[in-house]
Amino acid sequence: MVTVHTIDELQKEKENLSGSIGFVPTMGALHHGHLSLIRQAREENHNLIVSIFVNPTQFLECEELDSYPRKDIADNKICELAGVDILFVPTIDEMYEKDELHIGAPAIRGYVLEGEKRPGHFDGMLQVVMKLLNLSGATRAYFGKKDAQQLILIIQMVKNYFMSVEIIPCEIVRDERGLALSSRNIYLKEEEKTRALVLSRSLKRATKLVMTGELNVEIIKKEMHMVLKDVDELEYLSIVDRNFNILEKIEIGNTIILLAAWVGKPRLIDNIWI
Ligand code: PAJ
Repeated sequence: MVTVHTIDELQKEKENLSGSIGFVPTMGALHHGHLSLIRQAREENHNLIVSIFVNPTQFLECEELDSYPRKDIADNKICELAGVDILFVPTIDEMYEKDELHIGAPAIRGYVLEGEKRPGHFDGMLQVVMKLLNLSGATRAYFGKKDAQQLILIIQMVKNYFMSVEIIPCEIVRDERGLALSSRNIYLKEEEKTRALVLSRSLKRATKLVMTGELNVEIIKKEMHMVLKDVDELEYLSIVDRNFNILEKIEIGNTIILLAAWVGKPRLIDNIWI
C-alpha cells in the first residue's frame, strides 16, 4: 500500500494501475462498517483506493470538526491489512481553493430530514464526493446505507452530472447487540450504549409489524415511539419513499424508515430499507 497526500502523487500512483478501480471515501476513525465497504470493493475490483479526509465543508459551524475522532496510525494499519493499494489522505488546502464553485443539494430531497436538521451539510458532502470521485477515477464507489440520504443524493448527483462511476450501496453493519456502527459511538458511555439500542430495536419492531401485514405508517410510528422513549431527544422519525416523500402507507420495496436521536453526547442516526 502507498499512502499519498497530494493530488500529484495520487495521479502518479494511478498511472501504475490497470483494470477496474474500486473506491471507498471515508472520514477515517475506521470501524467494521467502513471495513465491510473496503472488503467488498477489494473483492469486486482489480485496484482499491481509499480516502481519508475530514471534510470541513460538510460540518456546520456548531459541529465538532476539530474534535472529530482521528486515528491515523490505526487507520493506516487497517487499510494495509485490508489490501488497499492507494490510501489518499489529502490536506484541506489540497482539496479546496478560496471562492469555489458550489454544488448544491436538490431543494427538496436535500433539505428534508438530515438536510433540514443540518442545513448545508449535503452541499458540502456532495462537493467533496464529486471531487473525490473525479480524482479517484473510480469504476465503482462504495457507500453505506447507514447514511441513507447521503447515498441517495450521491446516486442522484452521478445521474444528474452524467458521471460514469457506478455507485454501490452497502448494508449497514451493526455490533452484536444491534447498534449501528459509527465513528461517533466512541462518545457513548456504557449506560448510553445500552440506551442507544432502542434505535435499532424500534426499527426491528417496525419490520416485524410490516411482516405481519401492518402497513399503516401512523400505527407503526406510534409503536416505534414507545420503544424510543429512552433516548434523550428524538430529532426525527420519518417513513419515506426512496425519493424522500412522506408515506402514509408502507410501500414494500420502496420505503425507508429513518431516525435521528441524541443519546448522551453524540447524535445517532439509523434506518432500515423495507
Ligand atoms: P464516514 O462517516 O467516514 O463514512 C464513510 C462511509 O462508510 C459512508 O459511505 C458510510 O455510509 C459508511 N458507513 C459508516 N458506518 C457504517 C455502517 N455501520 N455500516 C455500513 N456502512 C457504514 O460518510 C462519510 O464519511 C462522508 O460523508 C464522506 C462520504 C466520506 C464524504 O466526506
